[in-house]
Amino acid sequence: MKELEERIQKDGRVLGADVLKVDSFLNHQVDPALMQRMGQEFYQYFQNYPITKILTVESSGIAPAVMAGLAFQVPVVFARKHKSITMNNDLYVADVYSFTKKTSNKISISKKFLAADDHVLIIDDFLANGQAVAGLTDIIQQAGANLEGIGIVIEKSFQKGRKLIEEQQIPILSLARIKAFVDGQVVFETE
Ligand code: G4P
Ligand code: NA
Ligand code: NA
Repeated sequence: MKELEERIQKDGRVLGADVLKVDSFLNHQVDPALMQRMGQEFYQYFQNYPITKILTVESSGIAPAVMAGLAFQVPVVFARKHKSITMNNDLYVADVYSFTKKTSNKISISKKFLAADDHVLIIDDFLANGQAVAGLTDIIQQAGANLEGIGIVIEKSFQKGRKLIEEQQIPILSLARIKAFVDGQVVFETE
């Protein structure tokens, strides 16, 4: 998505070897008009899939996920994060390891909001090592629901997540695909 790539070039900041800070439009302050256009991009790509529900993880996935839900006219469910969680039969629970923060968290979704007849599109803000997507995929399997595809705002193609998803042959659309950071500059994949 050209608009997103230009926004990343204009407002993104590269931190260290592999982190892109996009606080001014995605991860802290949010640009609603851009989010809406991204929701429409996800819709255009996945409109012929029988999507009944959008899943994401709190907190930064929620804004793009809600705009995708608006475009598809389906509900949006965000998994909640917990440091620890006691046994609860009302929840689907999965582990998510963060390589960035070197901590493991559990995520959960209430069984009320995901069923075996659901066809799910996962939306998230970043794809790095793919652990958030793996946790959501685990929960979708627990529910016996169907994973139709994955929509990502910013993919760092040089990390593990993209390959993990391709190996499972799950349809994926990333609106911006970053090939590398070179001297503090963002280099995008070219089609
Ligand atoms: P993974 O899910 O792809 O494995 O991600 P990883 O463990 O590497 O990253 C953990 C957190 O850091 C996630 O957010 C993820 O979205 C975010 N993240 C990963 N790479 C970048 C990056 O280059 N820039 C920014 N800004 N974030 C990155 P989270 O902990 O779930 O937090 P939240 O922001 O959704 O609340
Ligand atoms: Na994040
Ligand atoms: Na996220």
